[in-house]
Amino acid sequence: MPIALITGASKGFGRAVTYALAERGWTLIVDARGEGELRSATQGLADVTAIAGDVTDPDHRIRLAQAVPGGRLDLLINNASTLGISPLPQLADYPLSELRTVFETNVIAPLALIQLLAEPLTDAGGVIVNVSSDAAVEAYPGWGGYGSAKAALDQLTNVLGIEEPRLRCYAFDPGDMRTEMHQLAFPGEDISDRPEPRTVVPALLRLLETRPPSGRYRAADLAMSEVAR
Ligand SMILES: NC(=O)c1ccc[n+]([C@@H]2O[C@H](COP(=O)([O-])OP(=O)(O)OC[C@H]3O[C@@H](n4cnc5c(N)ncnc54)[C@H](OP(=O)(O)O)[C@@H]3O)[C@@H](O)[C@H]2O)c1
Repeated sequence: MPIALITGASKGFGRAVTYALAERGWTLIVDARGEGELRSATQGLADVTAIAGDVTDPDHRIRLAQAVPGGRLDLLINNASTLGISPLPQLADYPLSELRTVFETNVIAPLALIQLLAEPLTDAGGVIVNVSSDAAVEAYPGWGGYGSAKAALDQLTNVLGIEEPRLRCYAFDPGDMRTEMHQLAFPGEDISDRPEPRTVVPALLRLLETRPPSGRYRAADLAMSEVAR
């Protein structure tokens, strides 16, 4: 059975993807910082190893890599992410220590995991999915910190796709989803019109099944059109 490592699996999109892949018989290694929430999210799922920790912690990343069984990994989903400060500050006022945390979480940690797992991913002819955002490519006021980190993640993905021809490297933009992170971005607003994260999972599954060339893919496009092989 295929093996995946998914970060940020206790809530939102990561949790929905974890459920979908567990249902399809995948062996999973997952994380999140909050241990209780991670345990209850993964309770009852077959073949899921849950390891609580912070992706910015090098020791935690090593524990995740050591949990990969048999020296091969079919899929790494770098999903864990931080929005940064809520309400979102303008760049002119952005506290630089907070910006460093955003980049550590959303850019450095995903690349560090890719570096640690390069060999088992390559041996499996595997797939890397870095979860991106439209804020990586659109200039929304207040989104400069998070958006520039996601833009950096996109460009890492683009270059990896060229440097690692035996892998598929995707930046996956899920679109708006009704999650805790989305609520933090719109504090006090009613976000009940945003789609549930589980509704985006079929687009990700489509990406995994069709294995198009490495690059950036939007869930909305994957849901609507044929992907070029
Ligand atoms: N929601 C949207 O509208 C939207 C739109 C575009 C892109 N995205 C992207 O989609 C992905 C999932 O977002 P979401 O909305 O599902 O977020 P979410 O509901 O806030 O869930 C985030 C998950 O990541 C974990 N996490 C956060 N920081 C972590 C860290 N440092 N180390 C380990 N785990 C960590 C959280 O658990 P703990 O807090 O317990 O660690 C949780 O399990 C993110 O990459 C986000 O940028 C979301």
